[in-house]
Amino acid sequence: MTDRILIASNRGPIRFVEEEGEIVPRRSPGGLVTALTGLLQDRDGLWVAAAMTDADRSRAAASPDGRMEVAVDDAKYQLRLLAFDPEVYDRAYNTVSNRLLWFLHHYLWDVPRWPRFGGQSRISWDAYRSVNRTFAEALAEEAQDRTSTVLVQDYHLSLVPAQLRALSSGLRIAYFHHIPFAGPGYLRLVPTWMREELMDGLLQADLLGFQCERWADDFLFSARMLPDARVDVEGRTVSWRGRTARIGVYPIAIDPEQMREDAARPEVARCRRAVERWRGDRKLIVRVDRAELSKNVLRGFLAYEDLLLRSPEWRGRVSFLAHLNPSRTALEEYRVYTEQCVETAERINRELGSDEWEPIRVQMGDDFNEVLAAYALYDVLLVNPVFDGMNLVVKEGGLLNERGGAVVLSRNTGAIDELGDHVIAVDPLDIYATADALRTALEMPSDERGRRARALRATVAGRSPADWVEEQLADVE
Ligand code: G6P
Repeated sequence: MTDRILIASNRGPIRFVEEEGEIVPRRSPGGLVTALTGLLQDRDGLWVAAAMTDADRSRAAASPDGRMEVAVDDAKYQLRLLAFDPEVYDRAYNTVSNRLLWFLHHYLWDVPRWPRFGGQSRISWDAYRSVNRTFAEALAEEAQDRTSTVLVQDYHLSLVPAQLRALSSGLRIAYFHHIPFAGPGYLRLVPTWMREELMDGLLQADLLGFQCERWADDFLFSARMLPDARVDVEGRTVSWRGRTARIGVYPIAIDPEQMREDAARPEVARCRRAVERWRGDRKLIVRVDRAELSKNVLRGFLAYEDLLLRSPEWRGRVSFLAHLNPSRTALEEYRVYTEQCVETAERINRELGSDEWEPIRVQMGDDFNEVLAAYALYDVLLVNPVFDGMNLVVKEGGLLNERGGAVVLSRNTGAIDELGDHVIAVDPLDIYATADALRTALEMPSDERGRRARALRATVAGRSPADWVEEQLADVE
């Protein structure tokens, strides 16, 4: 008999919202949710997630242990929402996951000043440990009478594999790290006690998955710092405290069919007309990001300015549409960064624009129809993160673009491994070279652009979220 599947992630596959006095479920977007909930339905599975909104918490309080049946779209499965003390959860989610770990794995620290590991960091780390423990306890409880395979998702739950192993030693545990993994030099900045707990937390999984070889290697090199760990970089295993964890590479994919269906909606056609009016007969550069420090929005704008300054013949002949989706606004770093991006765009418009021409438009919000319209219409897509585990914008855009558009892609994304032959690769901190790459993209002969765009589309369409899940299951089971 096949194992029961349990999935754990901080953000769940649905969130609840209050509408006209009623609490109703809303499905989280993305092909990954479809693939994972499909698997849960097939394997009598259950998803454990944090109750993140007030509506989540009241819905969780209304069912025993937060456990409920979910039937959204085609999938039917069980969900268990864990409600936490708000202060403890805030420390675990905002202070540790989103500030400490996110910044660590994306190399975002201002090292001369931040971070500082004082008394408060210890309290926050305790909170992170206790939230992870609640997840582990819920999973152990659900697994009780059945052989189960547990799929733990992402850095919010780095300690769950070890905590769960301690509670229930016979489970099969796979952990997937959706973001980059800090290399050993950077990880050494984390105090030894915290670094070892973090690495031990992960290493009690049977299988640790990463988006690309570079992040897997960085993990393996980082594991070498552990006293007495036996690390086989070539064979991708780490033996530590009596167990051997295997390290695998599983690039995440988008759902091509679903994306094409979404793009065919009439609302998207309306948004397209608006973009076409704004663009006129100019070329269109597009970027789409969460307003997020790792996405390198600011340097992207500065590179575009550099292009306009060094190649004045492009002034008035190109426009830049930047979709920014506000994110993690509880963190001051994000608010300040987003403001700087907007101010920089405004300054460029003031200094270089005219009554007839707006060089950059920043579209703030999360209207996916507008994003889908922009994907179809770009001549150049700029994706230049400082670091990015995979980056799905380049896959979504590459699939849906209809103009044989060129893509400028950061060498520090996971996606470059699959798509590198079809894009113009850039080093994300090199503004001058990024400006040159934008010009190369704008001036690329149409047959070459078309050839690259077709190859990009075929590569993206050749993989699905189901492949991503099945490969991991095959390896762990
Ligand atoms: C990005 C990352 C994911 C991560 C998520 C958390 O999408 O790629 O790996 O889980 O952020 O975002 P949240 O909004 O839940 O903080």
